[in-house]
Amino acid sequence: MNLKPETIEKIDRLIPRYPVMRSAALPLCHLVQEDQGYLSDEAIEWIAERLDLEPINIAEIVTFYPMLRREPTGQYHVRVCRTLPCALGGAYQTCRRLEEELNVKVGHTSEDGKVTLEFVECHADCGKAPVVMVGETEYTDVGLEAASELAEKIKQGTL
Ligand code: FES
Repeated sequence: MNLKPETIEKIDRLIPRYPVMRSAALPLCHLVQEDQGYLSDEAIEWIAERLDLEPINIAEIVTFYPMLRREPTGQYHVRVCRTLPCALGGAYQTCRRLEEELNVKVGHTSEDGKVTLEFVECHADCGKAPVVMVGETEYTDVGLEAASELAEKIKQGTL
């Protein structure tokens, strides 16, 4: 697998920090996902081999944690915070509006590969709930109207 040299370096430094190699599995998944964008079968096999485990051990972790992805993300990576303050502020309704307008189910990428919509946990800006990230840009107070505006800009490619 083609990992960036800096990722390999981080992995080499990370593994010896754990007395039991298996405990490095989750952070290793994050590092490989950061490098590759998602965790392919090849990535899962590579991580397993690196930790002297079976691929099924890594696949279990990847399917358990929603922030680990099995598919590449779309051109727009939309993440809706669903932790309590945002949930109380209407994050689920915001997410439903984004699902409808962007024609993609949460946890998936649209058929044209343009949008990936996901739930995530707290972005540490809870006073301005609901919070939505598009790529690395944060949008706050994203109620229904703001969600529609965001969706429109995404559809038009102007965001
Ligand atoms: S709960 Fe959503 S930003 Fe903290």
